Amino acid sequence: MAIVTFTSPMMHKDKAVYAVAGDTKTILALAEDNRIPIPFECRDGNCGSCLIEVSYDNPEKKKAIMLTDKEKTTLKELGKITAEEIENAEVKDMPPRYRLACQFIARDEDVTITFTGTPGGS
Ligand code: FES
Repeated sequence: MAIVTFTSPMMHKDKAVYAVAGDTKTILALAEDNRIPIPFECRDGNCGSCLIEVSYDNPEKKKAIMLTDKEKTTLKELGKITAEEIENAEVKDMPPRYRLACQFIARDEDVTITFTGTPGGS
């Protein structure tokens, strides 16, 4: 079971929720279940509205990173990921700083998710 902590100027205080191990919910779905107001539009990795910043609470516990082609393209268009960061994610399991909440599956690792509340504006 992982703890996902959401933080944003849109929220009165941070909120920590449990992500069930083996579940395949996205961070966006987890946020919605817990009434956390991450902006979204397409839910499909195309619009960039759900941009989030991710920090790993135990960075030494590396896990393979799964970036979809859509997520890579959209993050590139937003100027939120470089070719080097993509390579580091895919080859060295080094997570990029920014993700799309609708593409990022919560896994068995504790993370802190930061969002501004402005679509695409993390
Ligand atoms: Fe459109 Fe996530 S909601 S990219």
